[in-house]
Amino acid sequence: MTQAITEEQCRVYEELVQKRSVLLLGAAGTGKSEFIRHVCKNMAGKVAVAAPTAMAAMNLAVGAVTIHSLFQIPPSATGYFDADLFALKSRAAEVLKSINYLVVDEISMVRPDLFDLMENLARRARGSDNFFGGLCLLLVGDFHQLPPVIRSDEFELFRRHYGHSNAFLFDAKSLRDAPLQAFALTKIFRQKSSHFVKILGAVSGGKLCGRMLTEINGRALNGNAPPKESLIITPYRAAAERKNEEELDALPGIIHEYVGRRVGTFRSIADDELPSPERLLLKEGATVVFTCNGAGWVNGSMGTVRRLGKNGVEVLLRGRKKAIPVGSHSWTHVLPNGGECVETGSYGQIPLRLGYAMTVHRTQGKTCDSIVIQRDRRFFAHGQLYVALSRARSLDSIHLSEKISSSDAMADGRVLAYCENLRLGGVAGKPFVHNQ
Ligand SMILES: Nc1ncnc2c1ncn2[C@@H]1O[C@H](COP(=O)(O)OP(=O)(O)OP(=O)(O)O)[C@@H](O)[C@H]1O
Ligand SMILES: [Mg+2]
Repeated sequence: MTQAITEEQCRVYEELVQKRSVLLLGAAGTGKSEFIRHVCKNMAGKVAVAAPTAMAAMNLAVGAVTIHSLFQIPPSATGYFDADLFALKSRAAEVLKSINYLVVDEISMVRPDLFDLMENLARRARGSDNFFGGLCLLLVGDFHQLPPVIRSDEFELFRRHYGHSNAFLFDAKSLRDAPLQAFALTKIFRQKSSHFVKILGAVSGGKLCGRMLTEINGRALNGNAPPKESLIITPYRAAAERKNEEELDALPGIIHEYVGRRVGTFRSIADDELPSPERLLLKEGATVVFTCNGAGWVNGSMGTVRRLGKNGVEVLLRGRKKAIPVGSHSWTHVLPNGGECVETGSYGQIPLRLGYAMTVHRTQGKTCDSIVIQRDRRFFAHGQLYVALSRARSLDSIHLSEKISSSDAMADGRVLAYCENLRLGGVAGKPFVHNQ
């Protein structure tokens, strides 16, 4: 962590030093992911870091991997409702035995069936009946952000096993009576204006109306062009891809194609979960976003392609005067094994994507300088509008391609009840306090 650790972060750190598991919540921009980086750097003992999606894992950039690959869980079209059906793979067993801490970021997106399977596998691997076989857990996220992906054909299964079709990690059976204490980070770093923070609070609570809605809608472009270097954020992947293609097509010059190289574990990662596309199409003058940290840039840095070479490109970063060379980058997938880390796969590609537009899903975890929220048809999941708006540092850096309505700020009633329960002193594994 480059910044000084705050008092509230310090308290959580102490809990972990004492080997007590923590559920760490906090609004967007409260430094949750920065805190994870701090834990990885400073904690004595072996730490494994995972996230529900490859994108979220790569945003963390601390050797984080997906939950599926850490636990060697195969993809399943029918969920993970019966943990005993899933074998404990030897590599996962070795990893789970060898670590002291398990950190999971973006837990709002973790399904309870997956979490229960993780817990079961950890117990089996460590030969202990304690919660996660006695591993110390740091679960981090914000339930007001993106929810788990649950398909409509799975609703009935979730209702049967977890009582709700809109199930969350806090519904996991293994969390009931688990030794897990909830903490919240309250100081927001990404946004400086307390007024903007208040508006974001209204959006995350699903109560965007009146003056606050008018104020956000005051950011509508009304046909005017947005600042040239704004990132378009949309709920729809097809819309983001279309916008990126359109902008690339509109540029003069010849398209260059760079082909990525997958090895080992990376062979099974879905195309849209790769950090940079397998077929990266670029032209001179294209706006790009970096997808890893490197010499002179960080994951999320924006720039313009200045020159295209056979094996690399030159990019002029925003705010800089001189273009820098960018060659192929190798993302490795490593797992701790005994005393060392073993590489299980790699992906080589120029660490860039077209940077005109991105889905909300892809922006989760990021901080952006200037954004255009492109509503397209509508926001369709709870937390989407909140995630999109909270990427910006200030209200002035937000632009709307069209006005939004109060129904775009969707919040899940179960999340609101759970968080309110925690605020009133409830425990982490009990979602249903209002009925008791
Ligand atoms: N202790 C700190 N002091 C100053 N700035 C900080 C601190 N912690 C984080 N930041 C800055 O605040 C911004 C948001 O941090 P971070 O991405 O860790 O937040 P987050 O809680 O993980 O947000 P999200 O929920 O959107 O993932 C970053 O630009 C980061 O550098
Ligand atoms: Mg984060």
